[in-house]
Amino acid sequence: MRPRVLVAASGSVAAIKFEALCRGLAEWADVRAVATASSLHFIDRVSFPSGVTLLTDADEWSAWGKIGHKVLHIELRKWADAMVIAPLSANTLAKIAGGLCDNLLTCVVRAWDYGKPIFVAPAMKTPSCGTTPSPGATSTSSPTSACPSSRR
Ligand SMILES: Cc1cc2nc3c(=O)[nH]c(=O)nc-3n(C[C@H](O)[C@H](O)[C@H](O)COP(=O)(O)O)c2cc1C
Repeated sequence: MRPRVLVAASGSVAAIKFEALCRGLAEWADVRAVATASSLHFIDRVSFPSGVTLLTDADEWSAWGKIGHKVLHIELRKWADAMVIAPLSANTLAKIAGGLCDNLLTCVVRAWDYGKPIFVAPAMKTPSCGTTPSPGATSTSSPTSACPSSRR
């Protein structure tokens, strides 16, 4: 049986490769795709592989009308054997780290069964990584950063 892979894109410019990623995964896996609103600026929906369903925030709400209806992010959590977030934007990374869940992608992550693997591919240029001072840090403290030191 083919593995079921849920692949998600957030709004990094690297999402221009999302269609190719889905196409490659679909050669050996059953693939469903989730895209944030920002990532849709980089994704060519016309050339998206026909066998891969591309789901957006609108689908979360069109699938649900009243109590008893299925909830899309829960159904995706149950369906998938693994999740891949590629690319993972700085914004979505921060939201996940903070437990926020205001779109389909982050709702799936918040509901995820961590007995199953989840892979992420952060994709942002160095300035996007941020140099956010730690809580309580003084002006003489070193900033923290999501970037590997070699890229700063
Ligand atoms: C042209 C363009 C390219 C961008 N590239 C990146 C990027 O590579 N990485 C990133 O983290 N954010 C990038 N951003 C910023 C995100 O799109 C922005 O933070 C957005 O709110 C992310 O939303 P999302 O995380 O819900 O997908 C880019 C924005 C624009 C306009």
